[in-house]
Amino acid sequence: MKLYRILQSQGFGSRKGCLARVRAGAVAVNGAVCGDPEAELDPAGLELTLDGVTWAYREKAYVLMHKPAGYECSHHPSHHPSVFSLLPQPLLQRGVQCVGRLDQDTTGLLLFSDDGQFIHRMISPRKGVAKVYLATCAEPVTDAMLEALRTGVVLNDEPAPIVALACERLDASTLRLTLAEGKYHQVRRMIAAAGNHVATLHREAIGNHALPADLPPGGWRWLESPDLQQLEQPWPSAKS
Ligand code: URA
Repeated sequence: MKLYRILQSQGFGSRKGCLARVRAGAVAVNGAVCGDPEAELDPAGLELTLDGVTWAYREKAYVLMHKPAGYECSHHPSHHPSVFSLLPQPLLQRGVQCVGRLDQDTTGLLLFSDDGQFIHRMISPRKGVAKVYLATCAEPVTDAMLEALRTGVVLNDEPAPIVALACERLDASTLRLTLAEGKYHQVRRMIAAAGNHVATLHREAIGNHALPADLPPGGWRWLESPDLQQLEQPWPSAKS
């Protein structure tokens, strides 16, 4: 594959822009400057350095973020900044999308990818990839509430009651709730239907992959193959 095409595929700009950057000597391949945009290279395992930053070649982009509160999962946010503003330009340029959405005030694990099939597998209710949330509630968590969430609550516009895959009381007002799908405002609506109200909401895991404890709010990192396997691991091996 020609070097300028590799650069384009990784989100480093237009054909014209990539040709110009290589000709200007601004691109290093595996540590050595390459001035020939037409150089034929095997992209697998390639390291590209531009503007002092080294990027490993990735056929598809898989990224996780620790979503902070006060950010919208939209390219056209209405009241708050966009989570996309927290990602570097090459990821935006290659068209990564949010894998499902979190509300603006929800924090925690948010995925991005430019692999449509992966996005589909992660959010399709048929695949049942578990999403694990920590919800603090405005009122104490009662046994009746836990029972309702485990046996199913009725939500507006939903034909059948919705059950939690797992539901655990962590302290007087905190729940860990595991869901197999991601309907609009699902956790808030389920907890409201069970007679309580969400005060704060945090997603701590998807599938068997937890938000890394050392990733600060607003931070992001690449996902590697073992991470992707953990994400797609079916319930009940996922954390409950
Ligand atoms: N359920 C909600 O209600 N909100 C979220 O952000 C995620 C799941």
